[in-house]
Amino acid sequence: MKIVIGNDHAAVELKFIIKEHLEAKGHEVINIGANTEASVDYPAIGEQTGRMIVAGEADCGILICGTGVGISIAANKVKGIRACVCSEPYTAKLSKMHNNSNIIAFGARVIGSEMAKMIVDTWLETEYEGGRHQRRVDLLDAIEG
Ligand code: RB5
Repeated sequence: MKIVIGNDHAAVELKFIIKEHLEAKGHEVINIGANTEASVDYPAIGEQTGRMIVAGEADCGILICGTGVGISIAANKVKGIRACVCSEPYTAKLSKMHNNSNIIAFGARVIGSEMAKMIVDTWLETEYEGGRHQRRVDLLDAIEG
């Protein structure tokens, strides 16, 4: 898969760990995040990640900031984006099965790298179920206008 990864200064080390992990599994990773600990503003990175997915430049995305919250809020402002913050694999799995999430987000100051890898792997391996969930996802889309 082609996966865009974005992060702020709070998540540089974890971003590179996840990037290497995904590349070792054969994924193409587009890194648009901060690569140093110099302070940056997460809204622009979350927005750009969302826009790349909607434009078809990536299949899905991973966002990491201190908590995963700010950067996912930014991405969710882009029409067509369903970014979910997860701290464990169960929520990641269900966010794909039921909500058809197209971005997974987590906090570098919240979880460790092994948990982050498990979240990402679970999420990528899970398929959207569609069916009864599609009407609700359509209702989410309708809120965006
Ligand atoms: C940066 O200090 C921090 O606010 C940011 O990484 C994130 O946690 C915001 O939601």
